[in-house]
This record gives sequence, structure tokens and C-alpha cells, in this order.
Amino acid sequence: MSPATEDTECRPDSGTDTGIGTGIKIGHALRDARTLLRDISTTPQLDAEILLGHVLKATRSRLRTRLDEHLDADHGQRFSALLARRVRGEPIAHLTGEREFWSLPLHVTRDTLIPRPETEHLVEVALVHLTPDRDLRAADLGTGSGAIALALAKERPRCRILASDISQAALAVARDNARRLGLANVEFRHGHWCSTLSGEAFDLITSNPPYVRRGDARMKQDGLQFEPELALIAGESGLESLHTVITQAWRYLRVGGMLVVEHGFDQAQTVFDLFASCGYDDITAYKDLAGLPRGVFGRRSSPYTVRAAPR
Ligand SMILES: C[S@@+](CC[C@H](N)C(=O)[O-])C[C@H]1O[C@@H](n2cnc3c(N)ncnc32)[C@H](O)[C@@H]1O
Repeated sequence: MSPATEDTECRPDSGTDTGIGTGIKIGHALRDARTLLRDISTTPQLDAEILLGHVLKATRSRLRTRLDEHLDADHGQRFSALLARRVRGEPIAHLTGEREFWSLPLHVTRDTLIPRPETEHLVEVALVHLTPDRDLRAADLGTGSGAIALALAKERPRCRILASDISQAALAVARDNARRLGLANVEFRHGHWCSTLSGEAFDLITSNPPYVRRGDARMKQDGLQFEPELALIAGESGLESLHTVITQAWRYLRVGGMLVVEHGFDQAQTVFDLFASCGYDDITAYKDLAGLPRGVFGRRSSPYTVRAAPR
């Protein structure tokens, strides 16, 4: 069983008590589901269509041409069980086992972060540095489902990418995603941040590390409680992983090589200063579509070792 299908099974204890399902028309099931999800989702219609589409193996547009068809018992029960889990706050991606990132359909499980749309900005920034006409070497630290590494691999077939994570379970999902997508220019390694890079020099290192501080109230909201703590929490300050990645990555970059990291919306100045104190040049902050500071990149332009960054 693939990691994704394992998680998309309707569990016996999920409950089919939403009262929506068997024998009713698809159109009515969608209407009732929308009403049910109104209080827990900002996109109840979309959620209902995605979940029923998942059960019926139909696209959302195909679903809309079948509104007068009746749901059979099996499909009705499975739809109802998924709705019950959604009502309890489980993210849609966990219920379907899939999330699209950079137009790649990625399998996700409870062991991986659900890739976020804002991380596509990091990919855009990275691609500017990874010119398509050269055999470059890149690394993605804390790869999770493989989102960043696989997007880079897809866009830059000549680039060899090393993707690593401390979570063996996440790496299994990432490897499976690479295999399904036929992306052979990514290699996966298990380990703590830059320890997986030893003995090599890279043209580009990317990382979207955990950056939420322990005890942050947001961990109880928006389905975050269903995602792995290991992917989200970075110590008391939220900056521990960023600090490690930024200070360690320098020595694994070729002269001219670039480090790109994503960070929390309120960490831009601290991260920028950390890049500066580690000796990176051309340090630049970038924003997401909402205009929030989202990441920083900087270049190693000196061959010399720099002073250690203060904690
Ligand atoms: C915020 S998630 C990012 C996942 C993926 N890159 C993405 O953008 O969707 C952070 C990832 O860092 C990994 N991680 C946490 N601590 C780590 C460590 N000490 N060394 C390597 N990876 C780590 C987590 O397992 C998780 O997959």
C-alpha cells in the first residue's frame, strides 16, 4: 500500500453520522455537505466537491455534470466518513492523500508537511539561480514530501539534487513521489540538516525548515494539529532550525553559490541579520503574494571561512 492510500482509507471509527450519503442525488449530497462544512471551512463548496470527487474518482467539472445521479451505499458511506473527519478539522490533503505543488500531484501523509502555495515563491527564487544550461548541483534540506526538490528537478533536468530529511517516514513519501513522477535526478539522504552534505560543494541550497515557536497558539488552528510537530516547531524561539541551516550551509556552498530559506512572516529582520553575520553577500528578502515577508537568500562570494554567527 503506498503511503498516500494508507491515509485516505475511510477508517471504521471515522463515523458515518453526518447523515449525508446513501441513496441521495449527488447534487443534494453536495448541498448538504456544504451546509455541514460552513462553520469549519472558508471553502465549504470546494471542500465538498474535492471530497466527493475523490470518492467517485471524478474531477470537479465531471461531478457537476452528474448532479442528478444517485450515490450508491458504498460511495455514500465513504463520503460521509470523510466529511465527518473534515468536520473534526482534518486537512483536505490528508483526506485525499494528495496536494498539488508547482503543478505536481504530490502524495502527502501525516508524516509530511502539506506543501504550501507560498513555498512556490522559494522555487521561483531558486530557479533564477539554477540556470538550465549547466550541470549544477543543488540540495534541499528538510524536504518533507519532496515538494521543493521535485519542482527543481522537474524544471532543471540537468541539475542533480540531493534532498534530505531527519524523518525516515517523510523520506519514504518523497522517494515515492519522485518515482511516480519519473524524476530520476533527485537523490534522497537521511540525516540532520547539513550533515547529509559532507564532502560536497553546492551551487544552491534551499530549505523551508520548521519555524514556529513551541507553544504558539496557531498550532491548535487551521489543521496544524494534524501535521507533524517535527515539520513545524523549532524550539522556544522558532528560530533554531533557521539558525542551524544558515550557519552550517555556508561551508557547503561553492563560491558564488546561493542559500535560499523560507521563514515566518515576523522573522524577516532576524533572518536577514543572521545571513549578514554569517558573511553572505547579495542578501535579499522576498515577499509572498499577500505581501508578507516570506524568505531570504544570500550568496557565498568569499572562499574564506567567516566568523560564527551569534546565537
Ligand atoms: C516545514 S517542513 C518543509 C517540508 C517541505 N520542504 C515543504 O516545503 O513542503 C520542514 C521539514 O524539515 C524536517 N526536519 C525537521 N528537523 C530536521 C533536522 N534536524 N534535520 C533535517 N530535517 C529536519 C521535517 O521533517 C520537515 O520535513
